[in-house]
Amino acid sequence: MAGMTTPVAVIVDAAAYAQAVEDAVKASAAYYAGGTSVLDDDAYDRLVRGIAAWEAEHPDQVLSDSPTGKVAGGAVEGDVPHTVAMLSLDNVFSPEEFTAWTASLARRIGHDAERFSVEPKLDGLAIAARYTDGRLTRLITRGDGTAGEDVSHAIGTIEGLPQELAEQLTVEVRGEVLMTTAQFEHANEVRTAHGGQPFANPRNAAAGTLRAKDRAYTVPMTFFGYGLIPRPDTDVALAARLRECAHSDLMTRASELGVNTTGSTAVPGTTAESAEQVLARVQEIAALRTQLPFGIDGIVIKADLAGDQQAAGAGSRAPRWAIAYKLPAVEKITRLLEVEWNVGRTGIIAPRAVLEPVEIDGSTITYATLHNPADITRRDLRLGDHVMVHRAGDVIPRIEAPVAHLRTGDEKPIDFPEVCPRCGAAIDTGEQRWRCENGRNCHLVASLSYAAGRDQLDIEGLGHTRVVQLVESGLVADLADLFALTRDQLLGLERMGETSTDNLLTAIDTAKGRPLSRVLCALGVRGTGRSMSRRIARYFATMDTIRAADAETMQQVEGIGTEKAPSIVAELTELAPLIDKLADAGVNMTEPGATPPATPGDADGGADGGADGGAETTGGPLAGMTVVVTGAMAGTLEKLSRNQMNELIERAGGRSSSSVSKKTSLVVAGEGAGSKRAKAESLGVRLATPDEFAALIADFLD
Ligand code: IVH
Repeated sequence: MAGMTTPVAVIVDAAAYAQAVEDAVKASAAYYAGGTSVLDDDAYDRLVRGIAAWEAEHPDQVLSDSPTGKVAGGAVEGDVPHTVAMLSLDNVFSPEEFTAWTASLARRIGHDAERFSVEPKLDGLAIAARYTDGRLTRLITRGDGTAGEDVSHAIGTIEGLPQELAEQLTVEVRGEVLMTTAQFEHANEVRTAHGGQPFANPRNAAAGTLRAKDRAYTVPMTFFGYGLIPRPDTDVALAARLRECAHSDLMTRASELGVNTTGSTAVPGTTAESAEQVLARVQEIAALRTQLPFGIDGIVIKADLAGDQQAAGAGSRAPRWAIAYKLPAVEKITRLLEVEWNVGRTGIIAPRAVLEPVEIDGSTITYATLHNPADITRRDLRLGDHVMVHRAGDVIPRIEAPVAHLRTGDEKPIDFPEVCPRCGAAIDTGEQRWRCENGRNCHLVASLSYAAGRDQLDIEGLGHTRVVQLVESGLVADLADLFALTRDQLLGLERMGETSTDNLLTAIDTAKGRPLSRVLCALGVRGTGRSMSRRIARYFATMDTIRAADAETMQQVEGIGTEKAPSIVAELTELAPLIDKLADAGVNMTEPGATPPATPGDADGGADGGADGGAETTGGPLAGMTVVVTGAMAGTLEKLSRNQMNELIERAGGRSSSSVSKKTSLVVAGEGAGSKRAKAESLGVRLATPDEFAALIADFLD
């Protein structure tokens, strides 16, 4: 199915229709029960929409087992009847479709729904948990909606589903069992360690784990409740109260009883009074999706009041009082064609998957990260495998796992490099991430080009081709060699005339005077980029103080924790000869305007003990302020890059940030500023034009 891009599967005749129904039924059965993927969600949705379109044209030929007309998941039947059917949900895919649904709901119940509840659609499996006098006695899967499978053996392995409620009630709690990202990784580790195939994604992992009996190991899962209903033997008064309760109140009640709900997450269920409010909340939840520690595939909107729900009623497949607003799929199945091994700036040799191109949420994905060789082995990936690819937001796509049951036997093992694919040197395989023994020299061209870049030493005229020339001619073997280049040496190179030689020498000379933050950044210390380099340079003020810092002192810099600090210190030790050579060549090693912490190494060294040790003590017009720059700069600031604006803000005592929040003190908004300006306005954050800002920090402009 990978590679299909039409929103609706096109069905041309009755035979294709029958085949489509069969495919959908199979996929649905696997989805609700199996733990293996046949179609990814998106392909399934397209198929069902195609089936529905064909049925609309041929109403007399609709097959009885069509997924459009029955409770989905019908192929797997269990032996425990549900007292109240476990229904599915209809879907909408756009604000327009959602608004149309609210209108049809209003028509059905004779008035606008009084209130909606809005909660994430958790990507797991529906389950019914039966409590008798407060004790969890039975767990049943959804099955075909009318009867499910008894999975009570899983009691005790599902976090958030207590074995004992806070009150001795006889009730049924319904909700979703899933694996958080961490639980999924753990489950696959344990499973592969026991010789099993890894699960393709957290949903399959939860399905497989829930149904597996007599395993040698148990792995935890998580439960989120979204329903609380009476059982046949529930006390009559309690049953009546539950039936009259608004959904949002039922969720509060469930949580009081000790059941986990979405209330414990970054995307708690909320209520909304209008379709507009619902849509705003849908956007909020969608925006948070990539940061959640569990998967969601949409947002469920329910008429909140019991009266409205009863008036709306239910069809055989889904209630009419609730709808799923589906978010774009973040996972697709495609094939792993090749693995490339790329050597990074620091000599790290990283595998990258080359995929059969697949469209996920509007982008065509051809590559995915594979982390490291151990990861490939652990997940037993092979060339030619069907793989589940995950892409969320701007994060680099990753391969979740191979889809083992789609193997044909023709898959080939992935070859690991024996020598560095860039320079042929030996590989240090001592760490999880493999590294060329030549380290950053392996990739000298890349590291020199980076160092010469606009946001680092900003050496005009030293582009990629010129760097290659310098390295290949043997004139430059490390960054410091640049500063020893002579006029004659440069003139001896091909295509180097007098003017370009003189210009390059001037540019190199200018680069010697760049602030310490940029020199540090140019060194390419792993784990530090532009803003981290600025923070380190401003905190310590001189290269000597930085080099004198141990891991503990390094942690005084904001954003450097216990993990990063030792690796930065170790990197700096490794770079010591190069730093000495740069200093000898006359490269500046101090940060203008910053003063070293009073007692280097003292935890309180930076007066405030915080990030900007030197900066805070020198004050400045932006002291204590967090400033965000957006839109095009103008006037005296026109030529400054974002990085230079951030440097300026920090020189003037402020903190630069790229996102607007309540904590932002000032937003400098130029021409073309969009969402950040709007957000600042809505939060009441102070705004300034580029000119106003220039006047504010005039003393700090070069
Ligand atoms: S309400 C009668 N709420 O989505 C209403 N379902 O596609 C039935 N799901 O079978 C369910 N999160 O497994 C509801 N907050 C949520 C949900 C949710 C996930 C699942 C549930 C259902 C499926 C329908």
